[in-house]
Amino acid sequence: MKVVTVVGARPQFVKAAPVSRAIRARGQEVLVHTGQHYDQSMSDIFFEELQIPHPEYHLHVGSKSHGAQTGEMLTRVEEVLMKEKPDALLVYGDTNSTLAGALAAAKLHIPVAHVEAGLRSFNRRMPEEINRVLTDHVSRWLFCPTETAVRHLSSEGVTEGISLVGDVMLDVVNFNRKLAEERSHILSELAITPKSYLLVTLHRAENTDDPARLGAIVSALNELTMTAILPLHPRTVGKLEQFGLQITNPNVRVIPPVGYLDMLQLEVHASKILTDSGGVQKEAFFAQVPCITMRDETEWTETVELGTNVLVGANSAQILEMVEQFTVDFSEVPAAFGDGTTATQIVDILEKEL
Ligand code: UD1
Ligand code: UDP
Repeated sequence: MKVVTVVGARPQFVKAAPVSRAIRARGQEVLVHTGQHYDQSMSDIFFEELQIPHPEYHLHVGSKSHGAQTGEMLTRVEEVLMKEKPDALLVYGDTNSTLAGALAAAKLHIPVAHVEAGLRSFNRRMPEEINRVLTDHVSRWLFCPTETAVRHLSSEGVTEGISLVGDVMLDVVNFNRKLAEERSHILSELAITPKSYLLVTLHRAENTDDPARLGAIVSALNELTMTAILPLHPRTVGKLEQFGLQITNPNVRVIPPVGYLDMLQLEVHASKILTDSGGVQKEAFFAQVPCITMRDETEWTETVELGTNVLVGANSAQILEMVEQFTVDFSEVPAAFGDGTTATQIVDILEKEL
C-alpha cells in the first residue's frame, strides 16, 4: 500500500497525526505539505508536538487568492503524483489543500480517500462547503464521522465507498490529553486557574471578512466581564487591522496561536468555549466544556442536538447572553463521534482494498 497524503492547514496536521502513524506501521506514506499554513505557530509546532513525519514534499504555496492558491497546489501536487504513482491519495476536511489534492488525483485516475466526508453546512458562500462537496464527489473512499454525514452523501446520490468510522479528532484528543496535562504550562504562564476563563477562537472567513460581523463580535468581546483567552489566527489579526477594529477590553487576552498541547490544555480547563472553528466545536464536546458557536449554522449538528453547543451567529447580544447563561449537564450527554479508533479503521479499510 502506497499512499500520498496531502495536508496544508492547521486542522489537517492534527487529523493526519494518528492516520500517518497507522499507515506507516503497515505500508508506505508520502506526505505532501502544500504550505497553505506556514508560520511556525500554524505549522511546524504541530509536526513537532504530534510527531508527524517530516513531509517528503513541501510545496511552499503560501497565502494567495482562492484561485491562485488552489491552482498552484493543483499543478504541484499533480507533479508529485506523476512521479510517485501511489495506489491512493488521502485528504482531510475542506480546505483549499483538500480540494487541490483530490482534484489532481482524480484527473490522474488515482483513487481518492476523503477523511471527514459528508459534512455539510448547506451554505455555498463558504469556501469550505465548495471544497467538501467537490472532494466528496471525486472520492473513492468516503470516511464519514457521523450518520448525518452518511445521510448527506446519500441524498446527493453518493452511496458507494462510504464508511462510518467516527471522528479522527477524538483519536488525537485521547492520545494527547495526558501528555498535555504533563507538558503544557500554559495555565501557569498565563496565570489563570481551571474553570475561571473563557477560551475564544475566531478565524472563519464568513466572520473575519465581513466588517459588520467582525465588528459585532469585537463589540461583544469588548463587553466581556470574565477573563477570556484568545489565541488569534493570523487571518483575523490582518482583518482587524484592515477594518480599524480593536479589542480594547483588558479582560480579553489576545495571544499568538498556540500549539496543540497548549490548546488542548486550554480547552479542557476552560469554563466555556466561544468559537467559530469546526474542530474546536468537537474538542469542546470531547473535553465536556459548553460551546458557544459564532456561526449561523454548523456541520456538527449533533453537538447542538445533544445540547452541548449553541449557535449565536455574529450577534453581540446573543454572544454575551450565552457567555453568561449557557450551561450543560454533561452527565446526561451520550458519547458521540465514534470510539477513538477512527485512524485504525481507515487504514484497515485502505489496506484491505489496496
Ligand atoms: C483555512 C481554511 C479554513 C480552515 C482554516 C484553519 C480554506 C479556504 N480555508 O483558512 O477552512 O478553517 O484554514 O485554520 O482553505 N496566514 C498567515 N500565516 C499562516 C497562514 C495564514 O499569516 O501560516 C494569513 C495570511 O494573511 C492568509 C490568511 O491568514 O492570507 C488566511 O490564510 P488561508 O490559509 O488562506 O485561510 P485560513 O483563514 O487560514
Ligand atoms: N488549534 C491549536 N491552536 C490554536 C487554535 C487551534 O492547536 O491556537 C487547534 C485546535 O485545537 C484544533 C485545530 O487547531 O485541533 C482546529 O483548527 P482551526 O480552528 O484552525 O480550523 P477548523 O477546524 O475551523 O477548520
